[in-house]
Amino acid sequence: MGEKKVYSVAIDGPAGAGKSTLAKQVAQNLGFVYVDTGAIYRAVGYHMDLMGIGPKDKDGIERLLDDVNLKLTYDAGGLQHVILNGMDVTGEIRTPEMSRMASLISAYPAVRDFLLDLQRDMARQYSVVMDGRDIGTAVLPNAPLKVYLTASAHVRALRRWKELTEKGQTADLAKIEEDINERDYQDMHREHSPLVQAEDAVLVDSSEMTIDEVVEKILSLARERM
Ligand code: DC
Repeated sequence: MGEKKVYSVAIDGPAGAGKSTLAKQVAQNLGFVYVDTGAIYRAVGYHMDLMGIGPKDKDGIERLLDDVNLKLTYDAGGLQHVILNGMDVTGEIRTPEMSRMASLISAYPAVRDFLLDLQRDMARQYSVVMDGRDIGTAVLPNAPLKVYLTASAHVRALRRWKELTEKGQTADLAKIEEDINERDYQDMHREHSPLVQAEDAVLVDSSEMTIDEVVEKILSLARERM
């Protein structure tokens, strides 16, 4: 029997551009597995935090990587769960502190190398829509479809603000925009696998598009290429 044919769609872009919403819908529509790679950086950060290791402690982080066992599982609704050393930490990693922690520790090459196989294994086993920062440039450089999804920092901050206030939480728009700018800077200026548009990626600026318009655009590109 021949090997089963799998496809990958790589979606990269800055924080808050709507990658996960978009990638989830595209994956559902194509019948692919959605892989949120930011979640595994967050889980590594979470482990370090649990162990009392700060984001600046490069040696400590490298030493403790050996104790990190990560698995990605999917529930009946197709939602990804991150299992860290047998514990489901899917909810725990979604805090502003873990966003910051993930962005800082993701700059270390040892952390990036450590997570590379897990990401590539997923794409070998399944057809995937994978989102992150370096999927098209480093993790899956041969993906047949790469999308670089962006939106202005102000629009991204406004979307996040709306999301929080709709949940009844108080949120400071200026602070959100400041955090977004800080994370963009860190992700784009790190030495190893910085966030950058792959040469062969399709640029999609969603500032003035609805999510449905973006989903349709990606799906039509996927249909053309696969
Ligand atoms: O997508 P996210 O916001 O959950 O990602 C959290 C951080 O993890 C992000 O600021 C940078 C890092 N990251 C990365 O370096 N490479 C990826 N492929 C995904 C995330």
